[in-house]
Amino acid sequence: MSATKAQDIGGLGHSVRRKEDARFVRGKGHYVDDVKLKGMCYLALVRSPYAHARLKGIETSAALQVPGVLAVITGADLAEAGLAWMPTLSHDQQMVLATDKVLFQGQEVAAVVAESRFAAADGAAAVRVDYEELPVVVDPHAALEKDAPVLREDRDEKSNHIFHWEAGDRAATDAIFDEADVTVAQDMVYQRCHPAPLECCACVADWDPVNEKMTIYMTSQAPHAHRTLFALVAGLPEHKIRIISPDVGGGFGNKVPIYPGYVVSAVASLKLGRPVKWTEERSGNLSSTGFARDYHMHAELAATKDGTIRALRVKTLGDHGPFYAAAQPSKFPAGFYNICSGSYDLENAFVEVDGAYTNKAPGGIAYRCSFRVTEASFLIERTVDVLADELGMDPAELRKKNFIAPDKFPYATPLGWTYDSGDYAGAMDKALQMVGYEDLLKEQEEKRARGELMGIGISSFTEIVGAGPGKQCDIVGIEMFDSCEVRIHPTGKVLARIGVQTQGQGHETTFAQILAEELGIPVGDITVEHGDTDTAPYGLGTYASRSTPVAGAATAVAARKVRAKAQKIAAHLLEVDEADLEWKDYAFRVKGAPDQAKTMADIAFAAYTNVPEGLEAGLEAVDYYDPPNMTYPFGTYICVVDIDKGTGDWTVRKFVAVDDCGTVINPMVVEGQIHGGLTEGFAISKMQLIDYDEQGNITGGNFMEYLIPTAVETPHYDTDRTVTPSPHHPIGAKGVGESPNVGSPAAFVNAVIDALSPYGVRHIDMPITSDKVWKALRDAGVEG
Ligand code: CDP
Repeated sequence: MSATKAQDIGGLGHSVRRKEDARFVRGKGHYVDDVKLKGMCYLALVRSPYAHARLKGIETSAALQVPGVLAVITGADLAEAGLAWMPTLSHDQQMVLATDKVLFQGQEVAAVVAESRFAAADGAAAVRVDYEELPVVVDPHAALEKDAPVLREDRDEKSNHIFHWEAGDRAATDAIFDEADVTVAQDMVYQRCHPAPLECCACVADWDPVNEKMTIYMTSQAPHAHRTLFALVAGLPEHKIRIISPDVGGGFGNKVPIYPGYVVSAVASLKLGRPVKWTEERSGNLSSTGFARDYHMHAELAATKDGTIRALRVKTLGDHGPFYAAAQPSKFPAGFYNICSGSYDLENAFVEVDGAYTNKAPGGIAYRCSFRVTEASFLIERTVDVLADELGMDPAELRKKNFIAPDKFPYATPLGWTYDSGDYAGAMDKALQMVGYEDLLKEQEEKRARGELMGIGISSFTEIVGAGPGKQCDIVGIEMFDSCEVRIHPTGKVLARIGVQTQGQGHETTFAQILAEELGIPVGDITVEHGDTDTAPYGLGTYASRSTPVAGAATAVAARKVRAKAQKIAAHLLEVDEADLEWKDYAFRVKGAPDQAKTMADIAFAAYTNVPEGLEAGLEAVDYYDPPNMTYPFGTYICVVDIDKGTGDWTVRKFVAVDDCGTVINPMVVEGQIHGGLTEGFAISKMQLIDYDEQGNITGGNFMEYLIPTAVETPHYDTDRTVTPSPHHPIGAKGVGESPNVGSPAAFVNAVIDALSPYGVRHIDMPITSDKVWKALRDAGVEG
């Protein structure tokens, strides 16, 4: 494997020896909504129109009269079975169906099961709920005020404060700020947004009373973790629960939590003895399932006059809605937000985060992000631009002056992480050259002289992906390892099963490529399966770009275990000592006589027919990989925008993305990941916001208000990469899926602010809609 090959059409060398092997492997061919079972019935949810109200009563008799309706399930029914509340992934609890009061608009209050979808919907409309409205809190700052109504009456603590968390050295950081030549401070809100996957959530729960086994087809990013949670909540043994996650139409973190719809469907199937299907509607997905971000951030930098950044100080308030349901490793209440020192070599840093309950939907999920890394990256890359503005320094020069130098890796940050490898200046130089930075600066000067608005925005992000290690990272106590099981059949064909779960990232293709490279077997002879807890080995699932760093590593190690056994069989077949063999050009060859060789196909047949004495038959292995560290991908994105003074509309003229994810397995897949994530970053920067009015009514709960960019709005991207392998990953790969969403919002925003900076504008909160730009220009006295 060489860097040149890795940059070829197919990435890893052997796996694309044959051109036809460079194809994409198809998925499973069906989604949850395609599942049709005999006797299946349908579930519809009744949702609260109020954001905060006491339940005075629920009248179900009219619903039960609707033809086809089989049952109505309420919170009281669940309470009888001890299932009215369920644990969240952040050590809180969440209502499954409301019993006493509702805490956000769209909250699940009851469920109707019927013979058809339509009858279920009619039944849900006929359920009468009597509410008494309560005062609503949608602002997290207001939620922490002394006289704010206490939302969570079930908790001992009678306030809306959830947690306080901090990292770094407060005193040492304060001391630097006290004596620094220059300091800057910036408030910024990373707004509430939503992953809005193409496929909403769905499940089919199928209780088999004969075998006493529950099978749940479900849109799950983490089938094994979900099985364990179901076992804990329902009290069923795990081997009596099977989760099948078929093709998933996009997850982006939205399909990591367990939602009430899944739990109520399982209860309904147990109650009726029939399969029950729940398919979420779009507005339900946008208004009740895991939102992202909603971080209210205050950042400060201390620097010398000549632009050496010395320290970072951050204070943040996170809005979590009424249940603290963020999907993140247990020991990290603010996720990996302490990656916010970014790509810079600082003397010290201090960060503190508080969480607040409000009457908005619960969530705080890692939307294409490794647990608050997007917020962290936006914060540092935005604040560095604010400092550049204060110092009157070129933002590229300021960044370069402060990057962690390549010879400083492994690099321990003041906030507690140890970066594995990096060459930040290398990625930036490539991006500057690709975008034609010097020429752009000249052009900008000329345009500014003519009163035209053109901006250049840079973001040089550092990511952190690949949770574990297990001792540091766990989900509900389960350490975050991941797994692969490899079996080579006598004919040399391979079946591999992995603990992670693709939602369109193409693991069937890329993991087959890792095996092809390690085993010398063509990628077309390898099948990769996942997403069925009855067959796949236990794993913690796919989110936060952990698949390649953790399960990808398990795949390489499992293949190497197989190869170790294969070497013994090869020695037996070639009648030489094991030590006389070397693995070269995808075969075991006798040292000094390379023509005497056995390929994996030769060895596979012998493994079932002719093993040396004392060795058991078969050729298979499993690996549960606990990574020694996370991987730290990075990159530089540069965006060029033009702004129309008359309307405030901004358009992206050029966008250059240079990523470094270590060894690349499949450049086509990586390119696809980058394009998708950049488009999400563009949408967040320009048009996406889940907002609420003072009564807690959601605005942004449908696609008329929550905008998804189409091909018309989406900019063109020029992508390239540098390759700095991870020193601890078996094949040197780092994750990549999150990088573009993490790194790009700052590039878009920095470009818009750069265009407006001659008029004294230093910051505008996302989404930067044209009316906000128009207003900023008018406030600065600029006419269109
Ligand atoms: O966990 P998730 O699959 O979302 O993220 P990832 O590990 O970053 O991988 C996304 C896709 O890109 C997978 O198919 C990876 O195998 C592929 N990839 C790659 O080809 N080379 C890399 N260095 C990293 C990821």
